Amino acid sequence: MAELIREVAVVGAGTMGGGIAQTFATCGANVRLIDVAPAALEKGMANIRASLERFVKKGTLAQADAEGALARIRPSSKLEDGAGAALVVEAIVEKAEAKAKVFATLDAACAPGTILSTNTSSISITQIAASTRRPDRVIGMHFMNPVPLMKLVEVIRGQETSAETTATVVGCAEALGKTPVEAQDYPGFVSNRVLMPMINEAVYCLMEGVATREGIDTVMKLGMNHPMGPLALADLIGLDVCLDILNVLHDGLGDPKYRPCPLLKRMVAAGRLGKKNGKGFYDYQ
Ligand code: CAA
Repeated sequence: MAELIREVAVVGAGTMGGGIAQTFATCGANVRLIDVAPAALEKGMANIRASLERFVKKGTLAQADAEGALARIRPSSKLEDGAGAALVVEAIVEKAEAKAKVFATLDAACAPGTILSTNTSSISITQIAASTRRPDRVIGMHFMNPVPLMKLVEVIRGQETSAETTATVVGCAEALGKTPVEAQDYPGFVSNRVLMPMINEAVYCLMEGVATREGIDTVMKLGMNHPMGPLALADLIGLDVCLDILNVLHDGLGDPKYRPCPLLKRMVAAGRLGKKNGKGFYDYQ
């Protein structure tokens, strides 16, 4: 049954965390948006404001509803402020140790019934759950970027995730107007197991001079009806994030077909991280 969880905490105010907070608040939930870095929190709130304004301008959201959503998001710099939530969605950096720390702290601070979810794009849910005493109430809730627009939520069950937790999170995703799809806890789940090899292969095509960046993206846009080409999409996701996910696939599945393209590694080493820092395969003002 589609039922919105009304008291929510989102940890991490980056692109994904901000989009998740915005989506819950637009649907009527009270959201604590937590980030230890004050600058990130400020930027996160500014991004939410800008995104809500785009919906208002388009006429798909009333001004009063946008203001209401913004008022329901309370920023905070303390993880413990998430203690009152019935559902926590973690969306911090894709580093297993950092996530383990956050989950251990949340486990100690939150009521026993609170569901602790992670927006990880590829780290094992079972491994994250092992840093808590409630692995039955730890689950993957994987949103897609840009969160307010994308319909999918990949719901990932860890080894110990209970059927009750899964049903609650599936219902909540439906209440957000999303379509949940359940997946098992294997590296990359479904979304990145399928998406990242395509992006990686596009980078190999560029490295080997098979076509230009525009050529590669145009083939996939006009030939396969993708809304954006794989290189532009890699820029949107973040080249460092793509590299992290490919490493998880390569390590976790042990198949050389997942080895990250040397050009992708070189781009990340050069600090070309994609849209978020203004330069990736393309340049952004
Ligand atoms: N907030 C509000 N509105 C937004 C927005 C945001 N963050 N981003 C875009 N929009 C709106 C724009 O205002 C625009 O509205 P109008 O049509 O009324 O003008 C509309 O969305 C379309 O945007 P654009 O014209 O800028 O560009 P577009 O038509 O190419 O659409 C897109 C943008 C929705 C991002 C589309 O290109 C797309 O669907 N791309 C693929 C995205 C994708 O594959 N995401 C998944 C990435 S993988 C992931 O996230 C998971 C992981 O683990 C790595």
